[in-house]
Amino acid sequence: MPMPTEPMLYKSVLRPLLFRGDAEKTHEQTLAMLSRMAFLERALANLYTVEDGRLETSVGPLKLKNPVGLAAGFDKNGVAIRTWPGFGFGFIEIGAVTAQAQPGQPKPRLFRLPEDQALINRLGFNNEGAEAIGVKLKALRSERPLRIPLGVNIGRTKIVATKDAAADYLFTFETLFPYGDYFTLNVSSPNTPELRDLQQKGHLANLLATIQAKNRELAAASHIPEKPVFVKIDPDMDFAQANEVVAVAKAERIAGIVATNASAVLRENLSKPVDQPGGLSGKPLKARATDFIRHVYRATGGALPIIGAGGIFTAEDAYEKIRAGASAVQILTGFVYEGPGAVKRINRGLLNLIERDGLKSIGEAVGKGV
Ligand SMILES: Cc1cc2nc3c(=O)[nH]c(=O)nc-3n(C[C@H](O)[C@H](O)[C@H](O)COP(=O)(O)O)c2cc1C
Repeated sequence: MPMPTEPMLYKSVLRPLLFRGDAEKTHEQTLAMLSRMAFLERALANLYTVEDGRLETSVGPLKLKNPVGLAAGFDKNGVAIRTWPGFGFGFIEIGAVTAQAQPGQPKPRLFRLPEDQALINRLGFNNEGAEAIGVKLKALRSERPLRIPLGVNIGRTKIVATKDAAADYLFTFETLFPYGDYFTLNVSSPNTPELRDLQQKGHLANLLATIQAKNRELAAASHIPEKPVFVKIDPDMDFAQANEVVAVAKAERIAGIVATNASAVLRENLSKPVDQPGGLSGKPLKARATDFIRHVYRATGGALPIIGAGGIFTAEDAYEKIRAGASAVQILTGFVYEGPGAVKRINRGLLNLIERDGLKSIGEAVGKGV
């Protein structure tokens, strides 16, 4: 009898067990376990890291050992930061963090759609708040260096009005500035009322100008370069609005765009009707997110780096996003469905794909399919 492979074990034994319980409870239990596994980072890294110079890439000023990151929302409070690098990620993003601690939406608020390899979430930025997370990150940073870049995803506190949103983001940015290698301004979650209004030109320009002014000030005061700041956009806006977002991002010298967040409206390509409000992620989002990336890449002539997300499960999925213009990618739903070996398989597969296409590095594939 052939030995079962790791993906077989995950999909036929562990995943059915994990998927038996309530989605959010299982998620919390998994995170709690991961938070206690930091001592295994090296052992895990030996199992799961693919080291190969051809995978090295950069997203603006960010230098990555490989292009596969953990998307925001899996580890909102940054409880397993020491463990994540063990799974072979090139970078990780915690959050969304909001200025004030908040409980999020009423439960249940996270749903699996196994037939569609998707999730719907309406968590609503449940997190411990900037100050508490800052204390944690300070302790972490004072121990020893992290092996991969750490991003912090920032959201708006629910009870704060749009007119006060910039100050709310600013508080979190300033509090966490010393600890993040990059920051993502999340103006695209579907689960905080009016959050997406911040993608409108005037609001966005104000937000980005406020954050970038503080970025310059804090960087100068501590004699370090400015931190790369990204803007994360939703897949539901039309391309004309995307063009406006890109124009504002360029004017404010933003490091790049994270495309995309989960979809609030996409439901038509599901195997059966699902009447759950929230953000749809995973396989059914893949094509829409790729179209978005391709559009942003074209609109900027490749001048604005893109981190691509949405429905990446395999190396082919990641390669599709990279060829559409993403310099790096992030996964979340794919990690839930594919298991702990997902990043390794994607990185190995990417090496095969660039070899097939006669490329010397993953960087050479960026935008090749546009
Ligand atoms: C449970 C869950 C929570 C999420 N929370 C956040 C969040 O706090 N901030 C954010 O920017 N994106 C959040 N996202 C969106 C993901 O980061 C990602 O953009 C989206 O899910 C598409 O990628 P995927 O198909 O690989 O999951 C969340 C997604 C899920 C499934």
